[in-house]
Amino acid sequence: MAKMWAGRTSGEVSAIADRFNASIGFDKRMYKEDIEGSIAHAKMLAKQGIIEKAEADILCDSLQEISDDITQGKLVIDESAEDIHMFVEAELTKRVGDVGKKLHTARSRNDQVALDMRMHLMNQTDEIIEKTKSLIEALTDKAAEYKSAIMPGYTHLQRAQPIMFGHHLLAYSMMLLRDIDRLQDCKKRMNVSPIGCCALAGTTYDTDRDYEAALLGFDEVAMNSLDGVSDRDFVLELLFDIATLMAHLSRLSEEIILWSSWEFSFVELSDAFTTGSSIMPQKKNSDMAELVRGKTGRVYGDLIGMFTALKGLPLAYNKDMQEDKEGVFDACDTVQMALAVFAPMIATMKVKTENMKKAAQRGFINATDLADYLTKKGLPFRSSYKISGEIVAYCIDNGYVLETLPLEKYKEYSDLFEEDLYEDIDLLACANRRNSKGGTSTKSVEEQIAYVKEKLNE
Ligand code: ARG
Repeated sequence: MAKMWAGRTSGEVSAIADRFNASIGFDKRMYKEDIEGSIAHAKMLAKQGIIEKAEADILCDSLQEISDDITQGKLVIDESAEDIHMFVEAELTKRVGDVGKKLHTARSRNDQVALDMRMHLMNQTDEIIEKTKSLIEALTDKAAEYKSAIMPGYTHLQRAQPIMFGHHLLAYSMMLLRDIDRLQDCKKRMNVSPIGCCALAGTTYDTDRDYEAALLGFDEVAMNSLDGVSDRDFVLELLFDIATLMAHLSRLSEEIILWSSWEFSFVELSDAFTTGSSIMPQKKNSDMAELVRGKTGRVYGDLIGMFTALKGLPLAYNKDMQEDKEGVFDACDTVQMALAVFAPMIATMKVKTENMKKAAQRGFINATDLADYLTKKGLPFRSSYKISGEIVAYCIDNGYVLETLPLEKYKEYSDLFEEDLYEDIDLLACANRRNSKGGTSTKSVEEQIAYVKEKLNE
């Protein structure tokens, strides 16, 4: 495609340089925002008397048609154009003639691309938030279903204390609520219009930046033109927020992979979200969770890549800044895919409560409660502790758990043991005794569910 900036130079660029320079392959996804921005720009130019009202109408109608044509597949974006801005302007001029050449008055691709990026990433952020909400809903619904299902809670991956499976899932709901909060916060700083900063220094035309920004739904305009065209903090922030979200999904992935193993057998994923092996017929692999865990690394790379591209860049626009796109688009797409797969995967996950309970029993995680029982009956804690330890050792050697050891056996260790001991060491009772705010008791799990639902409705 002929170069619109040909003038000082002939516009003859070597084919390989042309390809290297082009961003249309990845910025074409911003066509809607680019055109929306141009429509607002034409309206502003007309309001200020910089172009005629009739001219603006022609530009706006044609721009809207171009947008619709692309969406409907009637117009294919020509990848020989340098970038989406050039493509749209060339197509416009092709359709409406010379008046199309008036659109780029009082703006530059530098403020235009900054505008497109902000608008596009705000839309992406909304989509990520919506998908995160769906996953929180899936987790929270599961949590409600298993608000009294005992599992071993772990520290150091060693069985530590009995907890409710619902309590464990809700820990992830809380993380994801914070992720949404961060994304919403990031949007506040994205919501600043750079258009009208022009190439770097503003313009001699009598523009109305506030009007143009308001047409596009921005709350504010950038107050320094150099900063307006070169600020990419919002890209960094969004990348950080997505990277954090991925970190959370990756931790959940790791747990799902462990829980799905024969060794744990706490959950079984639906066939719809697992794969088999091409050689081992017995296999059912948690590929989705593994992929999410793996892709998290790439998203971290996207964040570091952006930081590195910006490091040491002098003001204002430098072509390095074209590198702000692929990484953040990749992160947006990756996190959205991950969320879209995770919500139904969690919703259809089968929970094997019996296995969880057995694992909790074999962990002797109620041994402290056994010692407390004797202490309550008057024995000094040190002695209770020693007796409980000996009983645990006997159980291990003889294939018992504390719940199944007969009372006669208990009595061999201490006369203080009575039938009521079984109530005290019942795992469900142990967990329900932890009813401090945010604790694992069923009552607390119910409160957490109510809290999450309220947050989602805010
Ligand atoms: N494709 C460019 C980018 O993504 C648009 C801005 C070009 N500006 C310029 N002065 N060459 O950054």
